[in-house]
Amino acid sequence: ILLCSVEKYLQPFQLSPETLQEVSARLRKDLLRGLGKHSHHKAPVKMLPTFVRATPDGTEKGDFLALDLGGTNFRVLHVRVEEEAQKVLKMDSQICAIPQEMMLGTGEQLFDHIATCLGDFLESHNLKCQTLPLGFTFSFPCEQLEIDKSILIRWTKGFNCSGVEGKDVVQLLKEAIQRTGDYHIGSVAMVNDTVGTMMSCGYKDQSCEIGMIIGTGTNACYMEEIKNVKRIEGEDGRMCINTEWGGFGDDGSLDDILTEFDVEVDKTSINPGVHIFEKMISGMYLGEIVRLVLVKMTKDKLLFKGQISEALGTSGRFETKFISEIEDGLENAKKILTELGLDWGLVDASVVCLVCDTISSRSAYLCAAALATLVNRIRNNRKLDHLKTTVGVDGTVYRKHPTFSSKLQKAVRLLAPQCDITFLVSEDGSGKGAAMVTAVAQRLAHQSR
Ligand code: BG6
Ligand code: GLC
Repeated sequence: ILLCSVEKYLQPFQLSPETLQEVSARLRKDLLRGLGKHSHHKAPVKMLPTFVRATPDGTEKGDFLALDLGGTNFRVLHVRVEEEAQKVLKMDSQICAIPQEMMLGTGEQLFDHIATCLGDFLESHNLKCQTLPLGFTFSFPCEQLEIDKSILIRWTKGFNCSGVEGKDVVQLLKEAIQRTGDYHIGSVAMVNDTVGTMMSCGYKDQSCEIGMIIGTGTNACYMEEIKNVKRIEGEDGRMCINTEWGGFGDDGSLDDILTEFDVEVDKTSINPGVHIFEKMISGMYLGEIVRLVLVKMTKDKLLFKGQISEALGTSGRFETKFISEIEDGLENAKKILTELGLDWGLVDASVVCLVCDTISSRSAYLCAAALATLVNRIRNNRKLDHLKTTVGVDGTVYRKHPTFSSKLQKAVRLLAPQCDITFLVSEDGSGKGAAMVTAVAQRLAHQSR
């Protein structure tokens, strides 16, 4: 009886293969809309040109700085690209915390903090007297005008700093360095984390043409034919497109598969109505969806003798990392339930495992549907019967969850049977990738001089 009642709550999260096909088909239409000449301002999936036209050719070299903002950690890195060995080496890196208030404060405070962290890093690594080029991995949707001119369209995930949307992020960084720093930086290249991830894997595997993130947020980029990108002049060659697929569903196109819990997560977020697809998938939200389901089941007396602990009743207290831990073993589940102050029995613990599994599986399958759309698109673009390609991946959900990656991979195989995909987890992708983009940009600039 209990299991039947539990099923009732979980059933809306279980998407059939046909539904996933349908999701994939809807995204296919949205990719086209986003690629259009003018429609992209209103398009839910923005399809942003990145000005990355070439993957590394192996002649790049030099020392670079990299900033990585928008994932779990803000990091400053020093990266060396070596020509002969075709290697990208991380020399050093440092995590620099960004306090929660600052994520919601003014843009000036945020950029001053970034400039100060960079200055401290240069000081402690004896790099202050050099003027190094800098790759800035900035993991938010930006309208990129050039490799070093990038306008923030809007904040996503946990950030909402005033006075940055609509501004050129490179300019804001340079102004902050002038205000607070006693150092100089060289040319800047702006990179989305998906692009950094793709580029860092591209150095190892030439056929890496997709970058995917399933972490705090979710997104992917891929190499598109320039003739299909209506906003970019030119007919030949390819350009990397940052899809911003997190915004899929923002026009209501996914309303029929949203659960009441998804609606609630969206409503109580700092940006209601924005990034609906992301809110069903990524680390910033998965824990909260699980919590809301558990609260409802408890209220309906199916769990914990009907008693909601203070922790379970508080939004944000059920962290996404608990899902990974709980699915890793029942013992972890018991420990976490105790820590959350819940009076649990064995049945409670198993039901919690089932809830976690259902919600993380839905996330993996939705990602699979979206990735299937991209690989099928690349295959059609190139008029191939069969495509062999590589996806560079990063993000805590993909890395840390015990079964996420295998579920995702299995589902993509079903949804895109004519594509043979290799998945590469990128190591320090964004830092190394940003350095690579900067290096390639420098190489191209020298060549055209
Ligand atoms: C990191 C990358 O490893 O992964 C970041 O360096 C990226 O650029 C991040 O944003 C995504 O994962 P998460 O889980 O930290 O958001
Ligand atoms: C959000 C951002 C996007 C980023 C993704 C993963 O969706 O809008 O730019 O790539 O998170 O970090």
